[in-house]
Amino acid sequence: MNVTALLKLFSLQGRVALITGASGGIGRSLAEGLAIAGASVALSGRTVEKLEQIQSAIETHGGTAAVFPADLREPAAIPALVESVHEHFGRIDSLVNCAGINQRQPIQDVIPAVYDEIMQTNLRSVYFLTRAVLPQMITQGGGKIINIGSLTAAIGLANVSVYGMTKGALAQLTKTMAVEWAAHNIQVNCLCPGFIATELTTTVWDDPQRRQWILDRLPIKRAGQPADLVGMAVYLAGPASDYMTGQSIYVDGGFLAGSQW
Ligand SMILES: NC(=O)c1ccc[n+]([C@@H]2O[C@H](COP(=O)([O-])OP(=O)(O)OC[C@H]3O[C@@H](n4cnc5c(N)ncnc54)[C@H](OP(=O)(O)O)[C@@H]3O)[C@@H](O)[C@H]2O)c1
Repeated sequence: MNVTALLKLFSLQGRVALITGASGGIGRSLAEGLAIAGASVALSGRTVEKLEQIQSAIETHGGTAAVFPADLREPAAIPALVESVHEHFGRIDSLVNCAGINQRQPIQDVIPAVYDEIMQTNLRSVYFLTRAVLPQMITQGGGKIINIGSLTAAIGLANVSVYGMTKGALAQLTKTMAVEWAAHNIQVNCLCPGFIATELTTTVWDDPQRRQWILDRLPIKRAGQPADLVGMAVYLAGPASDYMTGQSIYVDGGFLAGSQW
């Protein structure tokens, strides 16, 4: 292999990536990273102004992006989203399932409406959206699914029962999809961030006790940033990961490796 061939492994030139949760901290960073690697990116989320800002930032740097608003709790929004992206870009090579919500509460306090909302946003939408892109990926001869998981798939954290259930289920779904769709040259992997500083985790990082608890247990002694996840996302979206499927990869500052004691 020469340098050109090596670099090609990480090039997304000519590919189209659909990113849900693109208006959020992690989704934005992943969308920008995939665009820099050459992908045309379909940005999805509910907050159109944020998506348009990101589109414009990507275009300013010479990338290609378009905005596709969708509320993934709505079953009808899912086929509509896939259809719009296909109409605009003509193909979908990678799907990054990044939209997600959390509500930190003890199990006794979780009301059914909250349970349902987290389940719908974090899990049900992934199941049906991924299924909705499948026919196109099969027709195109392959594709890449990147589910965004969490440390809570691997450990029990107090007050995140429903969220943790959705992320544990995503890790399992990743394996089943990987097995069912390997024959179609579709690789399915789960990128699991550690403690990343975004809007979703502001209350965690702003609480001095929680912050210290995390830092005490992190071998790499700093908060994760969305940009820390970009390298793995580019790898999972491109040819470099063609022989890898069904895996959950933790980009967590070493949290799961253990800690000094
Ligand atoms: N931050 C962390 O430490 C961390 C750690 C592990 C895993 N994760 C996972 O990483 C992903 C992104 O998290 P983040 O930290 O970037 O959070 P964030 O900044 O709060 O972003 C969440 C994203 O999800 C979208 N979203 C929420 N509900 C939606 C709905 N009903 N329909 C469509 N989109 C919806 C939001 O879009 P709108 O606001 O436009 O609706 C936003 O783009 C999530 O799946 C999260 O579980 C985060």
